[in-house]
Amino acid sequence: MKENKTAMNAQLPESPQLDMMRQLRDAFTGFILHYEFAIDEVMTKINVLQSEFEHMHEYSPIEHVTSRLKSVESIIAKVQRRGGPTSLSGIRETVRDIAGVRVVCSFIADAYKIADALTQQQDVTVLEIKDYIKNPKPNGYRSLHLLIEVPVFLSSGPVDVPVEVQIRTIAMDFWASLEHKIYYKFESEIPEALLAGLHEAAVTAGQLDVQMEQIHNEVTKLRPARPRYSTLASDQEIEFPSPAELRRLLDLND
Ligand code: GTP
Ligand code: MG
Repeated sequence: MKENKTAMNAQLPESPQLDMMRQLRDAFTGFILHYEFAIDEVMTKINVLQSEFEHMHEYSPIEHVTSRLKSVESIIAKVQRRGGPTSLSGIRETVRDIAGVRVVCSFIADAYKIADALTQQQDVTVLEIKDYIKNPKPNGYRSLHLLIEVPVFLSSGPVDVPVEVQIRTIAMDFWASLEHKIYYKFESEIPEALLAGLHEAAVTAGQLDVQMEQIHNEVTKLRPARPRYSTLASDQEIEFPSPAELRRLLDLND
């Protein structure tokens, strides 16, 4: 019995070092939580835009949305790579993509529509925009990157948290995910022939985006979407039919 108690005490020594480790853990968990909340905020904004768009028009501009929180290992690796300070405030400054949201759209025009709708919101602060659609990276990578800041309302008050939003088309996403896999397979040393092949595939993907959007626009011209009441000016009154008229319209009269 006495032995057990000693063993338990050995497992949980109340030392200043342990206390310090607990404090560090709690501080880091709180730090990461802010980013998790910020992802929730941005996901809600995107879901609202998507639902509204689906209601107003007859197709969805967004194919799918994903989010990810950067792992602790990746955060530390990035800080070391950049040679930034390792304090929490230093990490906050150096690593701006701890919270990441990826929006995959149907067409290029939709990517810009979503970006505009998001960045025009009052509580969204745009820190940086990198338009790799207009200016693709030398390897062929295309995507629209927004670094935004959104407020997260904590019990202690609001804090502004950065979120990296990548907006791209299905073709861009297809290319980027293959390139990412290849990059890791070859540990960044991709053979020349593969690099050339990837660049060519990126150009083809870009052409496909243009072609698909042209077809989509043709379809919209030939079959315009039904007008929705929510497209009426907000001060425009809608006359509701009388009950008798409604019965007649719905063909309910016997
Ligand atoms: P990171 O240090 O990687 O965050 O780069 P950065 O700070 O210069 O930012 P940038 O906007 O260029 O890239 C941020 C993110 O975009 C990356 O973490 C990837 O998710 C994505 N990305 C950028 N370039 C490429 C690329 O060439 N290929 C792929 N597959 N993804 C890329
Ligand atoms: Mg990154």
